[in-house]
Amino acid sequence: MEALVERLSANPDPAFWRGRRVAVTGHTGFKGAILVHFLLRLGAKVSAFSLAPHTTPNLFDELALHHRCASQIGDLREFETLNNWLLESQPEVVFHLAAQALVRESYRQPAATMSSNFVGTLHLLEALRQQSSVKAVVCVTTDKVYRQSEIAHAFSENDALGGHDPYSASKAACEILIESYRLSFLQHASIATARAGNVIGGGDWSAERLLPDAVRAWQLDDVLEIRSPDAIRPWQHVLEALTAYLILAEKLFASECESRAYNFGPDARDAVSVRRVLDLARQYFGRGEIVEHSDLASFHEAQVLMLNTDLARTQLGIAPRWTLETAVARSMLWYRQFARGVSAARLCDEDIAAFLSDTQIHEHEQAGMQANEVRDG
Ligand SMILES: NC(=O)c1ccc[n+]([C@@H]2O[C@H](COP(=O)([O-])OP(=O)(O)OC[C@H]3O[C@@H](n4cnc5c(N)ncnc54)[C@H](O)[C@@H]3O)[C@@H](O)[C@H]2O)c1
Repeated sequence: MEALVERLSANPDPAFWRGRRVAVTGHTGFKGAILVHFLLRLGAKVSAFSLAPHTTPNLFDELALHHRCASQIGDLREFETLNNWLLESQPEVVFHLAAQALVRESYRQPAATMSSNFVGTLHLLEALRQQSSVKAVVCVTTDKVYRQSEIAHAFSENDALGGHDPYSASKAACEILIESYRLSFLQHASIATARAGNVIGGGDWSAERLLPDAVRAWQLDDVLEIRSPDAIRPWQHVLEALTAYLILAEKLFASECESRAYNFGPDARDAVSVRRVLDLARQYFGRGEIVEHSDLASFHEAQVLMLNTDLARTQLGIAPRWTLETAVARSMLWYRQFARGVSAARLCDEDIAAFLSDTQIHEHEQAGMQANEVRDG
């Protein structure tokens, strides 16, 4: 039996990006590093700004981004540094990804999370007021900006904002801040926020994230300890979110869509539990023990998070491309090949090429890939 997944979504337009001056914050992190790599492949001239990488290894070093783009290591909370970087870069398009992005870390460091995420975004918006070169801005927030309700439902963009944990609160606050600057000051640029769900993919080595934790444990033949196995999240491959950001920027630039918030996420069937993702991860990794520890769940985290992505489909023509199974399979393949010495650049290139060219995905191909991988291991 073959399950065909039709490709509904467009690809980024290389003609738009070739030679385009683009500024990216957060390029030493997981998503930002792959976004810069993607933009460089598309021919963009990239300037990037971030704190130094916070993991070893990390994609910033592995992809040699300090040689390949105008990279500046700096703190968003220092306005002059940020402002000077933007003045020198004269970008036409800006992607803002820099943030303290971990929920559990936000409980340990609430003030630092608030200042990086809220004050950092405020500084960027202030700097953008003086940047007439900028025509399109994509600010990355998260699916966690919505006020949690007792009744599980897929959040739409007009649902109430909220934030139980400090990370979610900081990002919800950013949404209100950006809306205010959009209405009050930034008439020369189109500015949107992107609310994506949990992303997975090779090259994330962050602490306290599901697949990086699993790979770290299983590579050492350790047992993976998990919290909240029943928590439901809208999982997606990182390239789904990054492609959505690129297409959103193109449309903002051409005034072909509204300047507003957009949800990006998987099909409803791929909003699944932590346990289901780990079952797939173990299958494609080839081995791996898991133990559930409810006592590790000492911080509150939402149990069910689902997104309604109708607006992205209808206004932007963006729809999910890879099933969850493909996303997990490709992520595990990435980590396994990297461990065998294949370069991160080659692995990211292969993922991007596969993502851009896949018109449909067949179950038997996934089964074949899984079997090959198990034999390789
Ligand atoms: N990874 C996910 O599943 C996910 C889901 C939804 C939203 N997001 C959002 O996407 C963005 C990127 O996430 P990621 O997974 O790549 O996170 P990451 O932790 O890998 O990277 C964060 C980046 O932000 C930079 N940064 C943090 N504080 C800074 C500061 N004060 N000044 C300058 N740079 C600073 C870091 O140096 C790093 O480059 C974040 O805004 C995050 O909230 C991520």
